[in-house]
Parts: sequence; structure tokens; C-alpha cells
Amino acid sequence: MSATIPLTQKTEWHDLQHHAVQIGQHHLRELFAHDPERGERLQVSAAGLYLDYSKQRVTDETLDLLLKLAEACGLQERIEAMFRGELINTTEGRPVLHTALRAPKGESIWVAGRDIVPEVHAVLDRMTEFSNKVRSGTWLGYTGKPIRNIINIGIGGSDLGPEMAFEALRHYSRRDLVFRFVSNVDGTDFVEAVRDLEPDETLFIICSKTFTTEETLVDAMAARDWCVKQLGAGQALANHFVAVSSNQVAVERFGITIDHMFGMWDWVGGRYSMDSAIGLSTMLAIGSENFHAMLAGFHAMDSHFRHAPLAKNAPVVLGLLQIWNTNFLGAQTLAIIPYEQYLSLFPAYLQQLAMESNGKHFTVDGNAVDYATSPIYWGAAGTNSQHSFFQLLHQGTLLTPCDFIGFCQSFNRLGVQHDLLMANLFAQSEALAFGRNAQEVRDQGIAENLVPHRTFDGNRPSNTILAQCLNPHALGALVALYEHSVFVQGVIWHIDSFDQWGVELGKALARKTSAEVASSSDAVLTHDSSTNALIRRYKGCR
Ligand code: F6P
Repeated sequence: MSATIPLTQKTEWHDLQHHAVQIGQHHLRELFAHDPERGERLQVSAAGLYLDYSKQRVTDETLDLLLKLAEACGLQERIEAMFRGELINTTEGRPVLHTALRAPKGESIWVAGRDIVPEVHAVLDRMTEFSNKVRSGTWLGYTGKPIRNIINIGIGGSDLGPEMAFEALRHYSRRDLVFRFVSNVDGTDFVEAVRDLEPDETLFIICSKTFTTEETLVDAMAARDWCVKQLGAGQALANHFVAVSSNQVAVERFGITIDHMFGMWDWVGGRYSMDSAIGLSTMLAIGSENFHAMLAGFHAMDSHFRHAPLAKNAPVVLGLLQIWNTNFLGAQTLAIIPYEQYLSLFPAYLQQLAMESNGKHFTVDGNAVDYATSPIYWGAAGTNSQHSFFQLLHQGTLLTPCDFIGFCQSFNRLGVQHDLLMANLFAQSEALAFGRNAQEVRDQGIAENLVPHRTFDGNRPSNTILAQCLNPHALGALVALYEHSVFVQGVIWHIDSFDQWGVELGKALARKTSAEVASSSDAVLTHDSSTNALIRRYKGCR
């Protein structure tokens, strides 16, 4: 099967390399001019999302060749293996079943002889019961006041997803409740989050799958101290702390009882967990009905991904285009540009999803790769980004593919503003693709010495994703679209997209270093001379 012939030795890979040379000779202007239907044809729709990829530097042949590569890499079987719960996270010996988090009641997914769907719904039901109590004001704090402030403490997947979802669905959120997200071990994050709040009206959600993450535990202890200082003894805190974790022992050791814990499972990766109990803050903000609508959006994209033919499969097409841009056109980054203020945190969310998943240089068999893997995902909301880094996108020397994301309807229609916003999205992708050549510049009467500066090469690829409006269903579908496109890329690159060993060395060194930094003695430091000098300097100046 797929792994037997290394990726770069596959015929399909070589065919794509040759094809890239041919495509390199054609500008997007020509591709559009020779194919008037292109803009209508090179698109795919799924779960309410419309993906236009006609402004990518591809032809129908490119897609055919990419699909052949996907076939040679066993993509269809790998998709099935994931949905069936096979141990595809091989380095951790785990199945990968975030899709089970949004499986409707009544479906069955078996893991080690147990149907996990009822377990998922049992947790969802407990979340619903809890969030209804908090939202209705019947969950009372120690002094008998209802909860008005909700602070999520967590980092990585236990923060980025919840905060992104809160921002994305703010339109649906309870405006009389305050939501804050504390993630950084930098004390400033916690202090600023609670500065104007009263502990007896505040609920902390300690979100940590492992409940061993140092930053989260340190912040959770700061929260406990802050409450104890004003509310008194530990038992006063009972209704002010809940936990989301798969580690019951550590949660109880921290002092949170099992009744106040919402479970998760080792078959959910942190960066794939915003629709698990890690999304408790989301449910508290938007209510359980909207949360279930979000799950339905995820599930609609899951079903599409599992059943649609590969050529019309949105996550497959999105993933393969990324392979094309990265491995055959040499792109090293992907800019994510939502033209939707509510999605301003989406690029940061995708950074963890994609880069922690596919930022790896060993295959699942432990062989070093001889091809590029994950590009750098980055970006910011439009139109602001047009006035910061778009200069480089249009005229810089780097090939920087973009994903533009926009919505046909806004929740905040102010005069012409939404039309203006969307006109900017359309204009940017058009300018990137088609540019403006020297003759066109001259035709505008521009002085000859300025012609080179006013010329735009174009031929810069982008996708555009459009949906009706940013409702919970659309958010679920959008996140699942990217989750699965990341998986598709990992399958082609033959890497384990679900481990994250690359974060371990830094953590281990930080543990050793923090003891040295904390100590007041001048004990001999055993790092390199730079690190030793920096630590000494810090200790001397703090
Ligand atoms: O350090 C990386 C990581 O393990 C992420 O994968 C994860 O999302 C984050 O830390 C937080 O982990 P936890 O939820 O276990 O605290």
C-alpha cells in the first residue's frame, strides 16, 4: 500500500512535478481567458460552504493528478480508518475520533468494545444541564449571588478553540454575562482578566485534557488564591470552579469534585476539542441549542468528507491544493484572511490546528521526509490586513497563497459597510490573481519612472470560501473543513497528524530552568554560555 513506495518516488509525484513546470508557463490571466467557465466550474460546495478555487494556479489536469496522488497514498482508506476508530495516531497508540464528538444520538462508534456515542451525549447532557443553571441564574455562588463572570483557564487547544468560538459566535452570546480567557503563565493575563470582577459572581472553568499543563495549573492556583482571599476557606469555592479534563485523579487532587468535572477522552486531540466539553464556555455563552447547531455543522462536514467523491470533496480539494502550493509551487506559508470581524481569532486557531498537526519531519515509519510538510499558517482579518501586510502579498518576492473567508450576510448591517467589506474581499483576490501589467499602467497615464512600482505581476493564488452568515452551523462546518483538510495533507505527507512530540523538549528544559531561575543561590549553571549568561543577567536585574 501507500507507504511501500516513498512519496517522492511515486510516479504520481513525478507527474505532478512535470505538470508544475508546464503550469509555471501560464499566468492565471491566460487560464481564465482560455476557459470562460473556469470561475463557475472550479468550485466545490459542502455543508453550506462554497469553496471557489478557480484562482489557484491549477487546471482540471492538476486536480486529476492530485487526486491520483491521493489515491496512491490510500487517502480514501485512511479517511475510513479515522472514522472507524482505528489507531491512526500511531506514535501514541490512539484512535482519532473528534468526529464522534458530533455524532448524532443513536449512531454507534465502537472503541475497545464500547460504544462511545452515548458517553459523548451523556457529557453533552450534563453540560446542557449545567449551562442552563448558570444562564438562568439558578447556579449560585458562595454568597448566594448568580454567576455573572465566566473565566476559562486553559492553553493551546483548551484556549484557542473556546476563545475563537466565543468571538465568532458573539452575536449569539449572552451579553449580560462576562467571558474572559486566561491562557498565559504571564501573571498579567490573570490579573487583567479579574481586575474588575468580584469572586462571588465568578465561575472558573479549568480546561485541561491532561490536567498536568503547568501554565494552566499555575493560573488555576492563582484563581483559587484570588477567590480564597475574598471568600475565605476552600469549601467556599465549590460552586466557583469546574473542570474539563480526562484526568479525574488530578482534578480531584486540585480540589474540584467529580460532580463539577466534565469528562473528555484520550481519543480527542487538544486542537480538535472545541466541540467537546472544552467548549463549555461556548455553550454557556450561546446556549445548548446553538451549541448543538454548531455540532450539526461539524457533522454535516464530517458526512460530506466521509461520503463525497474525492473530486467533489471540499476538505480533500482544500488539502490537495495546499499540497500543490507547498510541494510543487514552493509556497512556505498560507495566509488566512477572514473578511468577518467575528472571525478575527480564526487564523490563530488554525495555526495550532495545522502547525501542531503537520509541522513534522518524520514519517509514521520514522523516516526523515525529503519534502516540505506544513506551511506556516498566519493571517488577520480584512480589511485591516490590507493596510498592514498586503503590500507584500501583492508585490513581495514570496509566493503567499491566501484563503479568503467571507459571508453574504452580516449581523451588523450599517449602511453600506458589509457590501464594502465584501467588495474588498473580491477585489483583493482579483488583484492578486490578475495584477496590472506595465501597459495597463501606462494607459492610465502614469509617469514612466513609476511604471515598475505601479505594476502588479498577479498570478498569486487564493481560495475564497463563502457562506450565508456566521451562525453556529457555519462555524462548525468551517472548522471541520479545515480539520479534515489538515488530515488530508498529513495522509499525503505520511505523517502522524495527531501527536505533538515537538513541544516536549522545550517543556522539559523549562522545568529544569525554572528551578534554577527560582533559586536565590548562585549555583553553577550547566546550560550553554548564552543561556547561562541570560539567566545570570535576569537574576541580577529582577
Ligand atoms: O503543549 C501542547 C499541548 O499539549 C496541546 O496539544 C494542547 O492543546 C495543550 O498543550 C494543552 O493541553 P491540556 O489541555 O492537556 O492542558
